[in-house]
Amino acid sequence: MRILAIGDIVASDGREFVYNNLGRIRKKYNIDYCIANGENSANTNGITKDIAETLIECGVDVITMGNHTFANKEYSAVLEDMPRVIRPGNYPSETEGMPYYIEELGFAKIAVINMMGRVHMEPLDCPFRATEKILDKIDADIIVIDFHAETTSEKLAYANYFDGKANIIFGTHTHVQTADEHVLPKGTAYITDLGMTGVRDSILGVKKEIIMDMYYTRKHFRFEKAEGEVWFSGCVFDIDEKTGKVNGIERLNFNSID
Ligand SMILES: [Fe+2]
Ligand SMILES: [Fe+2]
Repeated sequence: MRILAIGDIVASDGREFVYNNLGRIRKKYNIDYCIANGENSANTNGITKDIAETLIECGVDVITMGNHTFANKEYSAVLEDMPRVIRPGNYPSETEGMPYYIEELGFAKIAVINMMGRVHMEPLDCPFRATEKILDKIDADIIVIDFHAETTSEKLAYANYFDGKANIIFGTHTHVQTADEHVLPKGTAYITDLGMTGVRDSILGVKKEIIMDMYYTRKHFRFEKAEGEVWFSGCVFDIDEKTGKVNGIERLNFNSID
């Protein structure tokens, strides 16, 4: 089966690119299942119910989140009412929402898990142990994990620890695509970061001047979305759902689609 994973969709520009083009992208790459990170989809941070519903209507099967899960006040409505929107599984157990979504597709049963790193991020529960607990209780033919984390070393440590236990592990959060897609020794398809779907001439999808000022002055400013050309970033994983063999990994990075 062919699984498309879309990197952090940022603000209205990223959303609209996905709304307008996902049908064609799914068709062109012969996609069976689509996962997108939506933590920045509402005006740079968080998600709303309307946005989540529209992304699902236009072809996203599961929306993963990250450190901005709770940035929009609609988070509890989204997480409680929409099982296709999942949040990192190492938040405290009382937190709204589910850390995984399982779907029977007829030809295969797929599970998508969301987890978050702890290096230069919030001090959440251990992502390794939280993932082990989930893997112990779920059953699926294909297991995909979005590991939302800052550093390449934590992402690589996590991916290698779960090599052979998940079919696909991809990273999100940095908004910069890495060129290291490969199959780990025990068979897991891996990429450190999918990148961002949003305005390219920006920093994180935010106006560059704001982020530069933030680093120069060390003051904090209100983020505003950047304006400009939108680039779509993601990855297509081709996995044999019977054997788990990875047939191919293709990075996507474009600003228009035929
Ligand atoms: Fe993000
Ligand atoms: Fe993030």
